[in-house]
Amino acid sequence: MMAGLPRLFVAADLSSRRELDTLLAQIAPTGAGIKIGLEAYTALGGELVQAAAEQGCSVFLDLKFHDIPTTVARACTNVAALGASLTNVHALGGPRMISAAREALEKHGGPGRTKLLAVTILTSHSEADVRELGFTENSAVLVPRLARMARDAGADGVVCSPHEASGVREAAGPGFLIVTPGVRPSGSASNDQQRIATPVDAIRSGATHLVVGRPITGAPDPAAAAQAIIGEIRATLAGN
Ligand code: C5P
Repeated sequence: MMAGLPRLFVAADLSSRRELDTLLAQIAPTGAGIKIGLEAYTALGGELVQAAAEQGCSVFLDLKFHDIPTTVARACTNVAALGASLTNVHALGGPRMISAAREALEKHGGPGRTKLLAVTILTSHSEADVRELGFTENSAVLVPRLARMARDAGADGVVCSPHEASGVREAAGPGFLIVTPGVRPSGSASNDQQRIATPVDAIRSGATHLVVGRPITGAPDPAAAAQAIIGEIRATLAGN
């Protein structure tokens, strides 16, 4: 497993620098990383990543690139320069795009380079959506197949639902990163997540890293909520 990559990334779904600074002050001391997605990035840009790095907080820059290989490679070069620990592309961008992304990260990152994840099929898609897009396989077949393709093209792992993690692990083998959102500690609200899993279940299914947002950011004590999840992850990994 990658040294230095936190097991827990807190989803920083926010649009102001003030909210980010508050969250960083709460989260950085726990050792968790933060996940910066399109909302925060389009509002605040690369300064977000630098602000997190100054607090010693690892960043998963979740911008899900999907473009021609040259464009994605150049964007990945910029991501490497920002110092993100993790970033991602859509698996559906294809093997040449994924290879180009990996090469750019390797070239500009050195040994502690940004790790590359692929998004297989968005979990917001229903099976009907998947058919409408022209796929004949259902997502239980498609997701592991795309994960293996992404691995062969140079991805270090995938982002997927905890419910897809065991199929991905079987297809992609050991050592592949499996990062799962849709995680809810037992007893917390599901919010708009449809298919949730507890941290214990996600890790037992093969997840290596978890993304958790609102159960932490909306908790009365976000640091304590993050610590509790980190404790659960550690205990589950130790018991496996
Ligand atoms: O607040 P919550 O824990 O639901 O946040 C989960 C985060 O993970 C959000 O940033 C969401 O956009 C992201 N995500 C997800 N499901 C996916 C991919 C990303 O919930 N399949």
